[in-house]
Amino acid sequence: MGTDKLIKFDESLLTGVEEMDNQHKKLVEAFNKVYSLIKEGKKEEALKVFIKDLKEYTEFHLKEEEKFLEEINYPEIEKHKRLHQQFRKIVFSLEEKIKEGNPESLREAISIAWGWIHVHIAKSDKKYGEYYKNLYKNQS
Ligand SMILES: [Fe+2]
Ligand SMILES: [Fe+2]
Repeated sequence: MGTDKLIKFDESLLTGVEEMDNQHKKLVEAFNKVYSLIKEGKKEEALKVFIKDLKEYTEFHLKEEEKFLEEINYPEIEKHKRLHQQFRKIVFSLEEKIKEGNPESLREAISIAWGWIHVHIAKSDKKYGEYYKNLYKNQS
């Protein structure tokens, strides 16, 4: 990959729910930071940043998002929570790969995690954004 940014945050990732969009941006930033540290071969630092900025922030975000979905009575909340559960497993295995430090499997784990984040935000998170937008429309 040519750039040190793995994920570009663009419009396709906007849900329209400001707080969630801000959290997604932070998540993407943290992901890019870990990715570039790995690319630079700074394994120790990558692990530190991973745990502090990515792993903990992911957990924070998933919980906040689930809280939000409860508040708006999102009909697909259970399905959405199950998807988040999947992602926790992916993050866990990414941590293992960073610790192991095998470049090949680490690259694979990163690309799985990135693929997951992108598809999840662009499809599933955007879907609650649509629901929220309609909710608001019908109330006004
Ligand atoms: Fe989500
Ligand atoms: Fe999300």
